[in-house]
Amino acid sequence: MAYADLYRASLDDPNAFWMEQAKSIDWITPPTKALFDEAAPLFEWFKDAQVNTCWNAVDRHVEAGRGEQTAIIHDSPITHTKREISYVELRNRVANLAGALRAKGVEKGDRVIIYMPMIPEALEAMLACARLGAVHSVVFGGFAANELAVRIDDATPKAIIAASCGLEPGRVVHYKPLLDAAIDAASHKPDFCVILQREQEVAKLIDGRDVNWHGFQYGVAPAECVPVSGDHPAYILYTSGTTGQPKGVVRPTAGHLVALNWTMKAIYNVDPGDVFWAASDVGWVVGHSYICYAPLLAGNTTIVFEGKPIGTPDAGTFWRVISEHKVKSFFTAPTAFRAVKREDPKGEFVKKYDLSCLKHVYLAGERADPDTITWAQNQLKVPIIDHWWQTETGWAIAANPVGIEPLPVKIGSPAVPMPGYDVQVLDEGGHPLAAGELGAIAIKLPLPPGTLPTLWNAEARFRKSYLEQFPGYYASGDAGYMDDDGYVYIMARTDDVINVAGHRLSTGGMEEVLASHPDVAECAVIGVSDALKGQAPLGFLCLNNGADRDSAEVVAECVSLVRDKIGPVAAFKLAVVVDRLPKTRSGKILRATMVKIADGEEFKMPATIDDPAILDEVAQALATLGLPAAKP
Ligand code: COA
Ligand code: AMP
Repeated sequence: MAYADLYRASLDDPNAFWMEQAKSIDWITPPTKALFDEAAPLFEWFKDAQVNTCWNAVDRHVEAGRGEQTAIIHDSPITHTKREISYVELRNRVANLAGALRAKGVEKGDRVIIYMPMIPEALEAMLACARLGAVHSVVFGGFAANELAVRIDDATPKAIIAASCGLEPGRVVHYKPLLDAAIDAASHKPDFCVILQREQEVAKLIDGRDVNWHGFQYGVAPAECVPVSGDHPAYILYTSGTTGQPKGVVRPTAGHLVALNWTMKAIYNVDPGDVFWAASDVGWVVGHSYICYAPLLAGNTTIVFEGKPIGTPDAGTFWRVISEHKVKSFFTAPTAFRAVKREDPKGEFVKKYDLSCLKHVYLAGERADPDTITWAQNQLKVPIIDHWWQTETGWAIAANPVGIEPLPVKIGSPAVPMPGYDVQVLDEGGHPLAAGELGAIAIKLPLPPGTLPTLWNAEARFRKSYLEQFPGYYASGDAGYMDDDGYVYIMARTDDVINVAGHRLSTGGMEEVLASHPDVAECAVIGVSDALKGQAPLGFLCLNNGADRDSAEVVAECVSLVRDKIGPVAAFKLAVVVDRLPKTRSGKILRATMVKIADGEEFKMPATIDDPAILDEVAQALATLGLPAAKP
């Protein structure tokens, strides 16, 4: 079926469309229907089914004779190691780990936090939870102890599974002290922690609380897959909102299985046995969906890559991994390509490898700039497919369905809405806009299977954040437009979320940290354009009257405060001290105008500005950082 017919069918009769896709999943009790809309505007999919995610991702492939196929390749240029795990080995390892967790009391519905770097054991921990029906919440390794503590208090896990350390170029990330500090700081305490000792750093275990990953599996019976209902939460993944309190996106089990499984052929064009690689991190949604679950559901080989696009050891690493492991579809963030392009603009490294296995490249996580897409296309000579999605959705809202019908690539657009996503561009009053007109991008409810049904422990926040702005729609938080052919263009966020090196961060969260500095009276954080990372956070600090401090010292303290409280991933390195912040007469900080000034873009003097002279002060402060200063 061609894309247009498929898309229309998905909107006209969602039950029929998704029940058809559901046939590819092994059900313990099949669903009687797809959509449960009794509690609209809250929706559930396949709610009356019984199913197990781990069975579908692992065991069923062993039963079907794929046991010897490689399920996971760990390629770690940072530790100079490579390892392969077959489906049968993966099944045994996951069943043993799940058995040991169960022996220590982890049951269906219990939460388990996973704090691990890019090693296969991270996927095994996720799958072991899925096997038991336990709800995992993976926390990215680049967050500080405080962020981990916030997640411990929100998810109230029975257990935490962590590695002793992670490895960044030139630096060991000491996970265990971070974990200990987070547990100390949190009000909730887990019953126990499982620690995987890596050979790069052996951590001290706390008697009575910590157990060793291998040791605690001794003599324990492997666990079978536990049936869960279709609406059972598969996992919680925290993402940045407008405040420092992260949003716990809930992923429903059955919709997740059906939707992800559908995407592997339709969007990524891979078949069982093909090698698929998403160069992201298990701490992000891309890692959940496309390093762990989707490729395994589809019987592919997935790559767990522990390295960086450059420097591990060079800008040819991506091409080495693709050619060595015969990757057919490759998924990364534009910022990674910008890093490679900066080191190897002419593609000298590309020429060293046979990349004939590679058929498509996928980009997401941030806006893909045309220069980067064109460079990649010229170097790799395969279609570069931009696609748009969010932690909330778990899979692409807009993409080019190359496995069904390759549509013309329009550079600058992540192509067209995927099945079930009725994407509309709305004005402030919620009225649909004509093609080409810029507005808020919203999705008419219901969202398709696999997308968030709610936020963990925060239904009111879910309604307020996503459902109330445009009744009947999900507000995506992105702004953009659609063209006459139905292609979507994502231009900017409508909230205080910024995107730094493909990582989603909250400027509001950073402001909360800066405001806690004893000398800071008031502050604002904006995202300024950055040639490598897309955006970089920049802080404006107004100091307390009488704070007789050297500005450079306060800036340095603020930079380390954000690193300590949020983590290195915040990449907060730029800040300036100013006397006043530009505001409207009603006291709202004019962040959008400050962004334009910092980016050197033309801007209109806001009609509501209280004191235009403050904009000159902002420009002067930016000049001290070497940033341009636009004039109205
Ligand atoms: N654990 C601990 N620290 C981490 C980390 C992790 N998993 N990931 C990143 N960090 C640290 C980095 O070491 C760096 O620390 P530093 O300030 O001491 O140098 C800091 O967080 C900022 O990291 P990052 O923004 O990634 O910048 P970078 O300069 O290290 O690397 C790129 C730049 C472009 C190479 C890198 O950002 C990259 O590969 N991006 C791709 C992102 C991606 O795939 N996102 C997934 C979305 S699909
Ligand atoms: P995350 O939840 O971390 O995946 O971040 C989601 C946000 O990243 C989206 O709301 C967009 O702002 C941005 N984003 C993701 N993919 C794209 C894309 N292909 N083009 C433009 N922006 C994107």
